[in-house]
Amino acid sequence: MAAKRSLSLLVPLIGLAIYSQASYLWKLIGRVDIDQPRLVRWENSTALNNHDCEVIRAANACEDVKIHFPSQTAFLACGDPLERTHWYPCAGVRTVKLRAESSFREQLFKYDAKTGQTTALELHGLQGDFVTHGLDILPLPEDPSKIHIFAVNHARDGDSIAIFVHELGSSAAQLVKNVKHPAIKTANGVAATGPLSFFVTNDHYAASGPLRVLEEQYGPFTWSSDVQHCDAHSEDVSCKQVGGGTFPNANGINLWQDRLFVGDARNGTVTVFEIHPDKTLTKLRVVDVGAGADNINILPTTGDPIIAVFPTLEDLPTYLDNVKSLGKEFLVPAAALRLDHTNDYAPELIYFDDGSVVSFMTAVAVDPVDGFLIVSGILQYGGFAVCKVPPDAFARISPQP
Ligand SMILES: *[C@@H]1O[C@H](CO)[C@@H](O)[C@H](O)[C@H]1NC(C)=O
Ligand SMILES: *[C@@H]1O[C@H](CO)[C@@H](O)[C@H](O)[C@H]1NC(C)=O
Repeated sequence: MAAKRSLSLLVPLIGLAIYSQASYLWKLIGRVDIDQPRLVRWENSTALNNHDCEVIRAANACEDVKIHFPSQTAFLACGDPLERTHWYPCAGVRTVKLRAESSFREQLFKYDAKTGQTTALELHGLQGDFVTHGLDILPLPEDPSKIHIFAVNHARDGDSIAIFVHELGSSAAQLVKNVKHPAIKTANGVAATGPLSFFVTNDHYAASGPLRVLEEQYGPFTWSSDVQHCDAHSEDVSCKQVGGGTFPNANGINLWQDRLFVGDARNGTVTVFEIHPDKTLTKLRVVDVGAGADNINILPTTGDPIIAVFPTLEDLPTYLDNVKSLGKEFLVPAAALRLDHTNDYAPELIYFDDGSVVSFMTAVAVDPVDGFLIVSGILQYGGFAVCKVPPDAFARISPQP
Protein backbone atom coordinates (compact mmCIF):
# COMPACT_ATOMS: atom_id res chain seq x y z
CA MET A 1 0.00 0.00 0.00
CA ALA A 2 2.76 2.41 0.98
CA ALA A 3 4.48 1.80 -2.35
CA LYS A 4 1.25 2.52 -4.20
CA ARG A 5 0.66 5.80 -2.41
CA SER A 6 4.20 7.06 -2.92
CA LEU A 7 4.02 6.01 -6.56
CA SER A 8 1.05 8.27 -7.19
CA LEU A 9 3.07 11.14 -5.75
CA LEU A 10 5.77 10.28 -8.24
CA VAL A 11 3.62 10.64 -11.34
CA PRO A 12 4.31 14.38 -11.86
CA LEU A 13 8.01 13.72 -11.26
CA ILE A 14 7.96 10.99 -13.89
CA GLY A 15 6.59 13.43 -16.44
CA LEU A 16 9.24 15.96 -15.53
CA ALA A 17 12.01 13.36 -15.72
CA ILE A 18 10.94 12.22 -19.19
CA TYR A 19 10.68 15.85 -20.32
CA SER A 20 13.98 17.03 -18.89
CA GLN A 21 15.96 13.75 -18.94
CA ALA A 22 17.63 15.06 -15.76
CA SER A 23 19.45 12.21 -14.07
CA TYR A 24 18.76 13.45 -10.53
CA LEU A 25 15.02 13.32 -11.28
CA TRP A 26 15.31 9.78 -12.60
CA LYS A 27 17.15 8.83 -9.44
CA LEU A 28 14.46 10.44 -7.34
CA ILE A 29 11.79 8.26 -8.93
CA GLY A 30 13.89 5.15 -8.40
CA ARG A 31 15.42 4.45 -11.78
CA VAL A 32 18.19 1.89 -11.30
CA ASP A 33 21.45 2.94 -12.88
CA ILE A 34 23.06 -0.32 -13.98
CA ASP A 35 26.72 -0.39 -14.77
CA GLN A 36 26.54 -2.34 -18.06
CA PRO A 37 30.11 -3.81 -17.95
CA ARG A 38 29.07 -5.53 -14.70
CA LEU A 39 26.61 -7.65 -16.74
CA VAL A 40 29.10 -9.12 -19.25
CA ARG A 41 31.55 -10.85 -16.92
CA TRP A 42 31.14 -14.16 -18.79
CA GLU A 43 30.92 -12.85 -22.37
CA ASN A 44 34.33 -14.17 -23.47
CA SER A 45 34.03 -17.61 -21.91
CA THR A 46 34.91 -20.70 -23.92
CA ALA A 47 32.53 -23.55 -24.73
CA LEU A 48 31.70 -25.72 -21.72
CA ASN A 49 29.50 -28.83 -21.36
CA ASN A 50 27.83 -28.11 -24.73
CA HIS A 51 29.63 -30.68 -26.89
CA ASP A 52 27.16 -33.54 -26.74
CA CYS A 53 23.75 -31.91 -26.96
CA GLU A 54 20.63 -32.98 -28.80
CA VAL A 55 18.09 -30.28 -29.57
CA ILE A 56 14.56 -31.60 -29.06
CA ARG A 57 12.15 -30.34 -31.70
CA ALA A 58 8.98 -31.94 -30.32
CA ALA A 59 8.51 -28.85 -28.14
CA ASN A 60 9.14 -25.16 -28.78
CA ALA A 61 9.72 -22.06 -26.70
CA CYS A 62 10.27 -23.75 -23.34
CA GLU A 63 10.84 -20.98 -20.81
CA ASP A 64 11.41 -23.23 -17.80
CA VAL A 65 12.32 -26.78 -16.84
CA LYS A 66 12.40 -28.75 -13.60
CA ILE A 67 13.63 -32.35 -13.17
CA HIS A 68 11.87 -34.93 -11.01
CA PHE A 69 14.94 -36.97 -10.07
CA PRO A 70 13.37 -40.20 -8.72
CA SER A 71 11.59 -40.81 -12.05
CA GLN A 72 14.29 -39.17 -14.22
CA THR A 73 11.63 -37.06 -15.84
CA ALA A 74 11.91 -33.41 -16.79
CA PHE A 75 8.86 -31.15 -16.94
CA LEU A 76 8.85 -28.19 -19.29
CA ALA A 77 6.58 -25.16 -19.85
CA CYS A 78 6.53 -24.49 -23.60
CA GLY A 79 4.66 -22.51 -26.20
CA ASP A 80 4.61 -20.99 -29.64
CA PRO A 81 7.60 -18.78 -30.60
CA LEU A 82 5.96 -16.86 -33.45
CA GLU A 83 2.63 -16.32 -31.69
CA ARG A 84 4.56 -15.05 -28.67
CA THR A 85 5.95 -12.25 -30.82
CA HIS A 86 2.37 -10.93 -31.15
CA TRP A 87 1.08 -11.34 -27.61
CA TYR A 88 3.18 -12.43 -24.65
CA PRO A 89 2.68 -9.77 -21.99
CA CYS A 90 5.81 -10.66 -20.00
CA ALA A 91 7.88 -9.81 -23.11
CA GLY A 92 6.12 -6.49 -23.62
CA VAL A 93 4.10 -7.58 -26.67
CA ARG A 94 0.37 -7.15 -26.25
CA THR A 95 -1.42 -7.07 -29.60
CA VAL A 96 -4.07 -9.65 -28.82
CA LYS A 97 -5.71 -9.60 -32.23
CA LEU A 98 -2.51 -10.62 -34.01
CA ARG A 99 -2.21 -13.81 -32.01
CA ALA A 100 -4.04 -16.87 -33.39
CA GLU A 101 -6.94 -17.89 -31.15
CA SER A 102 -5.84 -21.55 -30.98
CA SER A 103 -2.38 -20.52 -29.77
CA PHE A 104 -3.75 -19.29 -26.44
CA ARG A 105 -3.57 -22.92 -25.31
CA GLU A 106 0.14 -23.58 -24.81
CA GLN A 107 1.56 -26.77 -23.37
CA LEU A 108 3.40 -28.62 -20.66
CA PHE A 109 5.73 -31.41 -21.75
CA LYS A 110 7.53 -34.20 -20.00
CA TYR A 111 10.86 -35.58 -21.15
CA ASP A 112 11.68 -39.12 -20.01
CA ALA A 113 15.47 -39.29 -19.64
CA LYS A 114 15.42 -43.11 -19.59
CA THR A 115 13.72 -43.49 -22.98
CA GLY A 116 14.51 -40.10 -24.51
CA GLN A 117 10.81 -39.59 -25.22
CA THR A 118 9.11 -36.20 -25.16
CA THR A 119 5.35 -36.14 -24.50
CA ALA A 120 2.86 -33.28 -24.36
CA LEU A 121 0.72 -33.57 -21.24
CA GLU A 122 -3.02 -33.54 -21.83
CA LEU A 123 -4.32 -30.82 -19.57
CA HIS A 124 -7.74 -31.37 -18.02
CA GLY A 125 -9.95 -28.99 -16.09
CA LEU A 126 -8.44 -25.62 -16.99
CA GLN A 127 -10.89 -23.27 -18.69
CA GLY A 128 -9.69 -20.45 -20.90
CA ASP A 129 -6.17 -19.47 -21.81
CA PHE A 130 -2.97 -21.24 -20.89
CA VAL A 131 0.11 -19.24 -21.86
CA THR A 132 3.17 -20.53 -20.03
CA HIS A 133 6.24 -19.07 -18.37
CA GLY A 134 7.88 -20.29 -15.10
CA LEU A 135 7.06 -23.65 -13.55
CA ASP A 136 7.79 -25.78 -10.52
CA ILE A 137 7.04 -29.32 -9.39
CA LEU A 138 6.36 -30.67 -5.92
CA PRO A 139 6.27 -34.35 -4.94
CA LEU A 140 3.22 -35.04 -2.78
CA PRO A 141 4.46 -36.27 0.60
CA GLU A 142 1.50 -38.60 1.16
CA ASP A 143 1.66 -40.17 -2.31
CA PRO A 144 5.06 -40.41 -4.05
CA SER A 145 3.37 -41.56 -7.28
CA LYS A 146 1.99 -38.03 -7.80
CA ILE A 147 3.38 -34.54 -8.15
CA HIS A 148 1.83 -31.12 -8.30
CA ILE A 149 2.89 -28.95 -11.23
CA PHE A 150 2.77 -25.18 -10.66
CA ALA A 151 2.61 -23.21 -13.91
CA VAL A 152 2.60 -19.45 -14.38
CA ASN A 153 -0.29 -18.69 -16.73
CA HIS A 154 -0.56 -15.43 -18.65
CA ALA A 155 -4.22 -15.47 -19.63
CA ARG A 156 -5.87 -12.61 -21.48
CA ASP A 157 -7.95 -11.94 -18.37
CA GLY A 158 -4.90 -11.80 -16.12
CA ASP A 159 -2.10 -13.87 -14.62
CA SER A 160 -2.58 -16.91 -12.44
CA ILE A 161 -0.71 -19.89 -11.10
CA ALA A 162 -2.32 -23.05 -12.44
CA ILE A 163 -1.72 -25.99 -10.11
CA PHE A 164 -2.12 -29.44 -11.68
CA VAL A 165 -1.82 -32.92 -10.26
CA HIS A 166 0.12 -35.40 -12.40
CA GLU A 167 0.48 -39.11 -11.87
CA LEU A 168 4.08 -40.00 -12.67
CA GLY A 169 4.28 -42.15 -15.78
CA SER A 170 0.97 -40.86 -17.15
CA SER A 171 0.64 -38.32 -19.94
CA ALA A 172 -2.04 -36.14 -18.36
CA ALA A 173 -2.39 -33.48 -15.72
CA GLN A 174 -5.58 -32.48 -13.95
CA LEU A 175 -6.20 -28.96 -12.69
CA VAL A 176 -6.33 -28.75 -8.91
CA LYS A 177 -6.74 -24.98 -8.68
CA ASN A 178 -6.17 -21.98 -10.92
CA VAL A 179 -4.88 -19.51 -8.34
CA LYS A 180 -5.72 -15.87 -8.95
CA HIS A 181 -5.04 -12.91 -6.70
CA PRO A 182 -4.47 -9.18 -7.34
CA ALA A 183 -0.90 -9.65 -6.05
CA ILE A 184 -0.23 -12.18 -8.86
CA LYS A 185 -0.08 -9.55 -11.60
CA THR A 186 3.12 -9.91 -13.68
CA ALA A 187 4.08 -13.43 -12.67
CA ASN A 188 7.43 -14.78 -13.81
CA GLY A 189 8.81 -17.59 -11.62
CA VAL A 190 7.13 -19.85 -9.09
CA ALA A 191 8.56 -21.98 -6.26
CA ALA A 192 6.24 -24.38 -4.43
CA THR A 193 6.21 -24.44 -0.63
CA GLY A 194 3.31 -26.88 -0.20
CA PRO A 195 0.65 -28.60 -2.32
CA LEU A 196 -1.30 -25.33 -2.56
CA SER A 197 1.21 -22.65 -1.57
CA PHE A 198 4.13 -21.00 -3.34
CA PHE A 199 6.46 -18.07 -3.75
CA VAL A 200 5.98 -16.13 -6.97
CA THR A 201 7.94 -13.28 -8.55
CA ASN A 202 6.26 -10.35 -10.30
CA ASP A 203 8.75 -9.02 -12.85
CA HIS A 204 7.14 -5.60 -13.34
CA TYR A 205 4.99 -3.21 -11.32
CA ALA A 206 2.28 -2.86 -13.94
CA ALA A 207 0.85 -5.53 -16.23
CA SER A 208 -0.14 -2.99 -18.88
CA GLY A 209 -0.92 0.69 -19.38
CA PRO A 210 1.28 3.79 -19.27
CA LEU A 211 3.18 2.74 -16.15
CA ARG A 212 4.17 -0.50 -17.88
CA VAL A 213 5.33 1.39 -20.95
CA LEU A 214 7.37 3.63 -18.65
CA GLU A 215 8.97 0.56 -17.07
CA GLU A 216 9.79 -0.94 -20.46
CA GLN A 217 11.23 2.25 -21.90
CA TYR A 218 13.02 3.76 -18.92
CA GLY A 219 13.25 1.03 -16.28
CA PRO A 220 14.11 -0.86 -14.32
CA PHE A 221 13.04 1.01 -11.21
CA THR A 222 13.77 -0.01 -7.63
CA TRP A 223 10.02 -0.53 -7.14
CA SER A 224 9.41 -2.52 -10.34
CA SER A 225 9.20 -6.09 -9.09
CA ASP A 226 8.54 -8.11 -5.96
CA VAL A 227 8.23 -11.53 -4.38
CA GLN A 228 4.93 -12.77 -2.95
CA HIS A 229 4.06 -15.81 -0.90
CA CYS A 230 0.58 -17.08 -1.67
CA ASP A 231 -1.50 -19.63 0.18
CA ALA A 232 -4.39 -21.12 -1.78
CA HIS A 233 -5.58 -23.79 0.68
CA SER A 234 -8.81 -22.01 1.46
CA GLU A 235 -11.23 -20.52 -1.02
CA ASP A 236 -9.93 -17.02 -0.28
CA VAL A 237 -6.40 -17.00 -1.62
CA SER A 238 -4.02 -14.93 0.49
CA CYS A 239 -0.77 -13.41 -0.78
CA LYS A 240 1.74 -11.29 1.06
CA GLN A 241 4.80 -9.48 -0.20
CA VAL A 242 7.95 -10.96 1.31
CA GLY A 243 11.66 -10.27 1.08
CA GLY A 244 11.66 -6.89 2.75
CA GLY A 245 11.09 -4.82 -0.35
CA THR A 246 11.17 -4.63 -4.10
CA PHE A 247 13.71 -5.50 -6.79
CA PRO A 248 14.64 -4.04 -10.17
CA ASN A 249 13.57 -7.22 -12.02
CA ALA A 250 12.89 -10.28 -9.87
CA ASN A 251 12.76 -13.26 -12.21
CA GLY A 252 13.68 -16.90 -11.55
CA ILE A 253 13.04 -18.27 -8.05
CA ASN A 254 13.74 -21.54 -6.30
CA LEU A 255 14.37 -22.92 -2.85
CA TRP A 256 16.46 -25.51 -1.07
CA GLN A 257 15.50 -26.43 2.49
CA ASP A 258 15.25 -23.06 4.28
CA ARG A 259 17.05 -21.06 1.59
CA LEU A 260 15.24 -19.08 -1.11
CA PHE A 261 17.05 -17.79 -4.20
CA VAL A 262 15.72 -14.94 -6.35
CA GLY A 263 17.40 -14.01 -9.63
CA ASP A 264 17.35 -10.47 -11.00
CA ALA A 265 17.44 -10.39 -14.79
CA ARG A 266 18.25 -6.70 -15.11
CA ASN A 267 20.62 -6.06 -12.20
CA GLY A 268 22.54 -9.35 -12.50
CA THR A 269 22.15 -10.59 -8.97
CA VAL A 270 20.88 -13.56 -7.03
CA THR A 271 19.55 -12.75 -3.57
CA VAL A 272 19.75 -15.49 -0.96
CA PHE A 273 17.12 -15.47 1.81
CA GLU A 274 16.42 -17.57 4.87
CA ILE A 275 12.82 -18.82 4.85
CA HIS A 276 11.11 -18.78 8.24
CA PRO A 277 8.29 -21.22 9.11
CA ASP A 278 5.69 -18.48 8.50
CA LYS A 279 7.27 -17.88 5.04
CA THR A 280 8.66 -14.50 5.93
CA LEU A 281 12.21 -14.00 4.70
CA THR A 282 15.48 -12.69 6.04
CA LYS A 283 17.94 -11.45 3.41
CA LEU A 284 21.29 -13.22 3.86
CA ARG A 285 23.27 -11.93 0.90
CA VAL A 286 23.11 -10.45 -2.58
CA VAL A 287 25.43 -12.26 -4.99
CA ASP A 288 26.61 -10.25 -7.98
CA VAL A 289 26.62 -12.94 -10.69
CA GLY A 290 27.95 -10.73 -13.49
CA ALA A 291 25.04 -11.34 -15.88
CA GLY A 292 21.27 -11.03 -16.06
CA ALA A 293 19.93 -13.94 -14.00
CA ASP A 294 16.96 -15.96 -15.20
CA ASN A 295 15.56 -19.28 -13.96
CA ILE A 296 17.05 -21.21 -11.08
CA ASN A 297 17.34 -24.94 -10.48
CA ILE A 298 18.95 -26.77 -7.59
CA LEU A 299 21.88 -29.18 -7.80
CA PRO A 300 20.27 -32.04 -5.88
CA THR A 301 23.55 -33.45 -4.53
CA THR A 302 24.66 -30.23 -2.80
CA GLY A 303 21.74 -27.75 -2.77
CA ASP A 304 23.72 -25.25 -4.84
CA PRO A 305 21.59 -23.02 -7.06
CA ILE A 306 22.13 -23.38 -10.82
CA ILE A 307 21.30 -20.15 -12.65
CA ALA A 308 20.66 -19.62 -16.36
CA VAL A 309 22.28 -16.27 -17.20
CA PHE A 310 22.57 -13.99 -20.23
CA PRO A 311 26.31 -13.63 -20.89
CA THR A 312 25.68 -10.75 -23.29
CA LEU A 313 23.35 -7.78 -22.77
CA GLU A 314 19.76 -8.87 -23.34
CA ASP A 315 18.19 -7.42 -26.49
CA LEU A 316 14.62 -8.70 -26.41
CA PRO A 317 13.24 -6.64 -29.36
CA THR A 318 15.90 -8.10 -31.68
CA TYR A 319 15.27 -11.65 -30.44
CA LEU A 320 11.54 -11.18 -31.07
CA ASP A 321 12.34 -10.00 -34.61
CA ASN A 322 14.41 -13.13 -35.25
CA VAL A 323 12.49 -15.97 -33.58
CA LYS A 324 12.48 -18.11 -36.74
CA SER A 325 16.27 -18.16 -36.92
CA LEU A 326 17.08 -18.26 -33.18
CA GLY A 327 19.65 -21.00 -32.60
CA LYS A 328 20.19 -21.34 -36.36
CA GLU A 329 21.45 -18.27 -38.25
CA PHE A 330 20.78 -15.93 -35.33
CA LEU A 331 22.73 -16.89 -32.23
CA VAL A 332 22.46 -15.53 -28.70
CA PRO A 333 25.19 -16.84 -26.37
CA ALA A 334 24.04 -18.84 -23.34
CA ALA A 335 25.62 -19.58 -19.98
CA ALA A 336 24.83 -21.17 -16.65
CA LEU A 337 26.41 -20.69 -13.25
CA ARG A 338 26.56 -22.73 -10.09
CA LEU A 339 26.65 -20.79 -6.84
CA ASP A 340 28.80 -22.71 -4.39
CA HIS A 341 27.11 -22.53 -0.99
CA THR A 342 30.29 -23.71 0.76
CA ASN A 343 32.15 -20.71 -0.68
CA ASP A 344 29.81 -17.76 -0.01
CA TYR A 345 27.78 -18.67 -3.13
CA ALA A 346 30.68 -17.71 -5.41
CA PRO A 347 29.57 -18.09 -9.05
CA GLU A 348 31.27 -20.74 -11.14
CA LEU A 349 30.62 -21.30 -14.86
CA ILE A 350 29.08 -24.72 -15.62
CA TYR A 351 27.81 -24.22 -19.19
CA PHE A 352 28.72 -21.94 -22.06
CA ASP A 353 27.49 -22.10 -25.63
CA ASP A 354 27.55 -19.62 -28.51
CA GLY A 355 23.81 -20.13 -28.93
CA SER A 356 23.90 -22.94 -31.52
CA VAL A 357 22.28 -25.34 -29.05
CA VAL A 358 19.71 -23.03 -27.48
CA SER A 359 19.72 -19.28 -28.04
CA PHE A 360 18.29 -16.85 -25.49
CA MET A 361 18.43 -19.68 -23.00
CA THR A 362 16.24 -19.09 -19.97
CA ALA A 363 16.62 -22.28 -17.90
CA VAL A 364 19.12 -25.02 -17.09
CA ALA A 365 18.52 -28.10 -14.96
CA VAL A 366 21.27 -30.54 -13.99
CA ASP A 367 21.10 -34.26 -13.27
CA PRO A 368 24.58 -34.77 -11.79
CA VAL A 369 24.11 -38.49 -11.16
CA ASP A 370 23.05 -39.51 -14.65
CA GLY A 371 25.31 -36.85 -16.16
CA PHE A 372 23.12 -34.59 -18.25
CA LEU A 373 21.85 -31.03 -18.46
CA ILE A 374 18.56 -29.85 -19.86
CA VAL A 375 18.78 -26.37 -21.35
CA SER A 376 15.75 -24.50 -22.66
CA GLY A 377 14.80 -21.23 -24.29
CA ILE A 378 11.69 -19.06 -24.19
CA LEU A 379 11.52 -18.19 -27.92
CA GLN A 380 13.33 -20.91 -29.86
CA TYR A 381 11.92 -23.48 -32.31
CA GLY A 382 13.44 -26.62 -30.85
CA GLY A 383 12.55 -25.51 -27.33
CA PHE A 384 15.05 -27.50 -25.32
CA ALA A 385 18.15 -29.64 -25.54
CA VAL A 386 19.64 -32.52 -23.58
CA CYS A 387 23.41 -32.27 -23.10
CA LYS A 388 25.42 -35.24 -21.85
CA VAL A 389 28.22 -34.24 -19.49
CA PRO A 390 31.05 -36.28 -17.93
CA PRO A 391 29.80 -38.16 -14.85
CA ASP A 392 32.29 -36.28 -12.67
CA ALA A 393 31.27 -32.83 -13.97
CA PHE A 394 29.38 -32.08 -10.79
CA ALA A 395 31.17 -34.47 -8.45
CA ARG A 396 33.15 -31.82 -6.62
CA ILE A 397 31.44 -30.92 -3.37
CA SER A 398 33.51 -27.87 -2.47
CA PRO A 399 36.29 -26.04 -4.29
CA GLN A 400 39.95 -26.69 -3.54
CA PRO A 401 41.55 -23.57 -2.05
C1 LIG B 1 35.89 -9.56 -24.14
O1 LIG B 1 36.73 -9.39 -25.25
C2 LIG B 1 36.61 -8.11 -25.87
C3 LIG B 1 37.50 -8.15 -27.12
O2 LIG B 1 38.79 -8.53 -26.81
C4 LIG B 1 37.02 -7.03 -24.87
O3 LIG B 1 36.88 -5.76 -25.45
C5 LIG B 1 36.14 -7.14 -23.64
O4 LIG B 1 36.57 -6.21 -22.65
C6 LIG B 1 36.20 -8.54 -23.05
N1 LIG B 1 35.22 -8.65 -21.95
C7 LIG B 1 35.54 -8.99 -20.71
C8 LIG B 1 34.45 -9.03 -19.71
O5 LIG B 1 36.68 -9.27 -20.35
C1 LIG C 1 22.18 -4.00 -8.08
O1 LIG C 1 23.28 -4.85 -7.87
C2 LIG C 1 24.35 -4.24 -7.18
C3 LIG C 1 25.54 -5.20 -7.21
O2 LIG C 1 25.32 -6.34 -6.48
C4 LIG C 1 23.89 -3.89 -5.79
O3 LIG C 1 24.95 -3.27 -5.07
C5 LIG C 1 22.69 -2.95 -5.87
O4 LIG C 1 22.18 -2.72 -4.60
C6 LIG C 1 21.61 -3.53 -6.74
N1 LIG C 1 20.60 -2.52 -6.97
C7 LIG C 1 19.33 -2.63 -6.56
C8 LIG C 1 18.46 -1.48 -6.79
O5 LIG C 1 18.91 -3.67 -6.04
